[in-house]
Amino acid sequence: MKSHHDHHQTHHHHGPVAHQPAPGADDAYQRAYAAAQPDPGRRVIPIELDAREIDWEFVPGNKTRAWGYNGQIPGPVLEGQIGDVLEIRFTNRLPQPTNIHWHGLRVPAAMDGTEMVQRSVAPGETFVYRFRLPDAGTFWYHPHSNETVQLEMGLYGALIVRGPNEPQLDAERVFVLDDVRLDKQGQIAAFGSIVEHHDGREGDTRLVNGRAEPVLEIAAGQVERWRFINASSARYIRLSIGGKPFKLLGTDGGLLEAPVTMNEILVATADRVDIAVGPFGAGEELAIEALQYKRRIIRERKTERFATLRVGAPRPSAARIPERLRRIEPLAPANASPNRTVKLGITLSLRRMVDFVINRERHHQDKPVKAGELQVWDVVNTTLMDHPFHLHGFFFQVLSVNGEPPAWRSWEDVVNVPPRARVRIAWLPDDRPGSWMYHCHILEHHASGMMGHFDVVS
Ligand code: C2O
Ligand code: CU
Repeated sequence: MKSHHDHHQTHHHHGPVAHQPAPGADDAYQRAYAAAQPDPGRRVIPIELDAREIDWEFVPGNKTRAWGYNGQIPGPVLEGQIGDVLEIRFTNRLPQPTNIHWHGLRVPAAMDGTEMVQRSVAPGETFVYRFRLPDAGTFWYHPHSNETVQLEMGLYGALIVRGPNEPQLDAERVFVLDDVRLDKQGQIAAFGSIVEHHDGREGDTRLVNGRAEPVLEIAAGQVERWRFINASSARYIRLSIGGKPFKLLGTDGGLLEAPVTMNEILVATADRVDIAVGPFGAGEELAIEALQYKRRIIRERKTERFATLRVGAPRPSAARIPERLRRIEPLAPANASPNRTVKLGITLSLRRMVDFVINRERHHQDKPVKAGELQVWDVVNTTLMDHPFHLHGFFFQVLSVNGEPPAWRSWEDVVNVPPRARVRIAWLPDDRPGSWMYHCHILEHHASGMMGHFDVVS
């Protein structure tokens, strides 16, 4: 205990308060900082992170001017266990302001990393994020300022939290998927076309952990845990591993109740899936690919490969996937009546054909919700294209899609809302008062205005 205390004091001393009008100098930040204490037996994990310009070889032999965390794309995989505290000392070495959002983590509002809750970190400035890890799962981090540019330039990374009862597989890998649009010189193409404004930006260079279409190896007979994160700006990934069956173990907010066997799964923008793959036979070669998914945009894509998997010589497996992974208590019955409707829509725009809105408003200001009061929201898509709906800071359960209950119960922070669909979600705001938001995670739609702000009040 004492060492935690000392650690806290030291960092507090030359940490956030040492900096000029600190972006988080307000009371809510100071309270959240002090309240972030590890559980008994857990620890504070200090992390140094910076964002800076780098030359990155997405494609071998071609250097692209990009932006990365700690000089790499993706940024380092941050890892911890439930009850640990991450203390991230972040320095902005970019030529423009930025901040970091901890996508999916149930942190206090003041640590959510959006422009709503903190002033962005100016070039040259340092800011300390400090929060406890409350849940096991596959999360990620990315800027929440000028996202259409900053994420495309390479600013994103995985954040993995482990719990006490993880299934034991032969190995674990993290796959951060992205696509970049490169110009003829191999540089990140200019931003802001009308098509991109409408479709969201997709690129022809498909990346796994910052490398274009890598070749990966696995030993025959192995069963591995693969965590996928869709970090692209707008792409929908209908994930297939050579068409072979795999087991879905978990989604955004951690494990399912039981594994589900399938041959493909839709990983919408910002979504995560956690799957058990294998065993494969020696000599097999499989495509890790996105099957064609028509999200009804101007430039539809075909089936496209992200990576190739080669199966090598066999190795004995010790993997054991239990039949029950955990229990998830239902928050509400499927037919619970909604107490709010969030309408994803478009409005005509003189300059850009359309703008993307919520309840007919760009950057909608929504009503507050009260901590402890069950929320049942109907997220209604009035448009003819898909939108990945993301709620900050809280997990929800999907109760129904067009009246049909989903095939399994799970905790999510992103859900795809198909064209003209009504997705009913339930979530319970715990007592983390402050400003929160929800938005379409197609970054261009978010930027255009398909987002809402609301407060959680005690
Ligand atoms: Cu991935 Cu507003 O977030
Ligand atoms: Cu959208």
